[in-house]
Amino acid sequence: MFQREKGPIFAAVLAAGKGTRMRSNRAKVLHTICGVPMVNYVIAALAPLAPQRTLVVVGHQADEVDAVLPPKVESVLQREQNGTGDAVRVALEALEDEDEGILLVVNGDGPLISDRTLAELVERHRSAGVGATVLVAEVDDATGLGRVMEDAGVVRIVEEKDATEEEKRVRLVNLGLYAFNISEIRHALGLVGTGNAQGELYLTDALEIIGRKSRAVTYRVKDLQEANLVNDRSHLALAEEIVRRRILDAHMRAGVTVRDPVSTHIEATVEIGRDTVILPGTFLRGGTRIGSDCVIGPSTDLLDTLVGDGALVEHSVGRGAEIGTGATVGPYAYLRPGAVLGEVTKVGAYCELKNTKIGAGSKVPHLSYIGDAEIGKGTNLGAGTITANYDGKDKHHTRIGDGVFTGINTNLIAPVEIGDNAYLGAGSVINKNIPPGKLAVGMPARVIRDAPRKPKDGEKDERRRAGTEE
Ligand code: UD1
Ligand code: CA
Repeated sequence: MFQREKGPIFAAVLAAGKGTRMRSNRAKVLHTICGVPMVNYVIAALAPLAPQRTLVVVGHQADEVDAVLPPKVESVLQREQNGTGDAVRVALEALEDEDEGILLVVNGDGPLISDRTLAELVERHRSAGVGATVLVAEVDDATGLGRVMEDAGVVRIVEEKDATEEEKRVRLVNLGLYAFNISEIRHALGLVGTGNAQGELYLTDALEIIGRKSRAVTYRVKDLQEANLVNDRSHLALAEEIVRRRILDAHMRAGVTVRDPVSTHIEATVEIGRDTVILPGTFLRGGTRIGSDCVIGPSTDLLDTLVGDGALVEHSVGRGAEIGTGATVGPYAYLRPGAVLGEVTKVGAYCELKNTKIGAGSKVPHLSYIGDAEIGKGTNLGAGTITANYDGKDKHHTRIGDGVFTGINTNLIAPVEIGDNAYLGAGSVINKNIPPGKLAVGMPARVIRDAPRKPKDGEKDERRRAGTEE
């Protein structure tokens, strides 16, 4: 008793449950907040405490949860989800030789918890010299949470389903975060039974056992925001709102202007350089990285897209694209995977680019679809220039040199190559390679055969009745 526990810290993240109240086919801890699975937030908060080992107890959709975990943590399988006490038992089995130090237990569904609070919990536990310390909060609405009763070194937690009317009125709740002396929790879990409303092994019962033996204490979270646990989708939205604002604040502190935080969604993984301005209605997601001095938005949605310094991207969508330094994109451009825009390029209104490289200074200003193409430097594609890259079976490549000029409504039937400084007349249909420096025009439409037969009105009705019309 009163022994300051100075040994190592081990961490157990409980993430095996299904999360019934989410009404989801996906395990609760896999639901994302600002693009990152919930379980990864608690793991990140644990990292500064440098646990000797971090064990994540997985069960429901174990493989899927395992797949999102960072490399340094270990997952351990809880075959049947028999309760939080059983989950900790599984973690302790993996720590079989450890009998000294602290086991920090963290529910996987408290994504807002900070590393500071975890460190304070451990500090409180150590300085109190007790067997167990639990993080608690006094909340307005305690619905669904374990109610905490503390008395002379014994902390008793009653689940709502097991609580009396009087106990239900208690507003001090268990946040599902505990520091245990590892030997104490090992011993206590051996004594816990399943005689409760859910027939589960409650971790909280171990707390009372430890309290009677070696004292237990509570520690109150300072910032009540951290007490937002996620049990259903409305909690999920609340957590997202808080995390989203935290991310925006961090960018603003680092020198990014966010004109309208309310309508701006930036995922935790995104990087932005200083003096960039983010305009309203913008979504920046996944591995998106934005340089400095850019203007992004309004109404722009970039996923896994790289943007160089000084670029302007307005009312546009990017998916796995690269936008060069000083480029301008939009309004209403759609850059699909493999669209790589060189320096000071322009992709304008109603243009779609896929798997296409555009050299420095080139322009695709209006109404174009360019797919599977490589465009040199200083080339200008006229309004409505289209690559016919797909023949109905295979995709083909188009190569356009430097300094090329295409007239409006040029059709490039791939595979085809246009030499440097070639000039293509308006409306031309190019199905042969054009040598450098040449002017090519035409391929005017000509009558070749009868048009495909259209069904007569009567036939159409018949087909509709037969349900065969497409
Ligand atoms: C638990 C606490 C409750 C507390 C609440 C805070 C118990 C008995 N009750 O209740 O006092 O107020 O957390 O959120 O501990 N899990 C497993 N394996 C299992 C069961 C659960 O890994 O067999 C994991 C879940 O994935 C989840 C966490 O443990 O991350 C909490 O489980 P959950 O069922 O949400 O616990 P609550 O009933 O909310
Ligand atoms: Ca439960």
